[in-house]
Amino acid sequence: MFANYNFVVALFAFVSCLPLSFAYFVVTSPGEGSVWREGAANSITWSKGLSDGINSFDIEMNRLGGDGLLLVARNVPATTTSLNVFLQNVPPADDYFLVFLNSTHGVLHTTSKKFPVILSSDSPPSGATLSSPDPQAPTVTVNGPSNPTQAFATTYAAIANDSSRTYIILLPQQAWGVFFGCLFGIFWTLWIH
Ligand SMILES: *[C@@H]1O[C@H](CO)[C@@H](O)[C@H](O)[C@H]1NC(C)=O
Ligand SMILES: *[C@@H]1O[C@H](CO)[C@@H](O)[C@H](O)[C@H]1NC(C)=O
Repeated sequence: MFANYNFVVALFAFVSCLPLSFAYFVVTSPGEGSVWREGAANSITWSKGLSDGINSFDIEMNRLGGDGLLLVARNVPATTTSLNVFLQNVPPADDYFLVFLNSTHGVLHTTSKKFPVILSSDSPPSGATLSSPDPQAPTVTVNGPSNPTQAFATTYAAIANDSSRTYIILLPQQAWGVFFGCLFGIFWTLWIH
């Protein structure tokens, strides 16, 4: 009887952890210790689950202190994983972060860690990593200072509706991490406690 119960729990855990691992969306750069520089191209990279139904998204740059909204790119295809941003007259500050969203109806997908923007003449703080552009990725130019009526720096062609597409199940490393973390959490709760 007990063995049967274990099997049911394992099956339940497996099934309930699957959607979670498909639905992750992480900004991998800028990350901890990243610094962006004015007058230079800076790199954005991200990693995203495959079957979360998000085929494209918009990227904005904002400041924790508010009033710093900069529109970066619109309709970025979910099949891409990086983009370079050339900063022009963007005021230096230490509280910028990126927002990945659908700006049409304001649905937030994910945000980056907070990162500073420094002047091209400034040297980065000790321990910080200057973000270097990805030569394979497109570069968009973002002009500051921000204002609410400005347009996105770049608009990608809208992605065709492909909600009928069948997904290939191919988990990147991070998804496995989430998946096993979730399994572990369920087993921990059920058996150790
Ligand atoms: C935002 O959502 C609308 C409606 O669901 C959709 O038509 C649009 O393509 C989405 N925008 C992006 C950038 O994917
Ligand atoms: C998207 O595709 C689905 C399935 O093919 C269809 O039912 C739906 O109406 C389409 N939506 C749009 C906005 O074209």
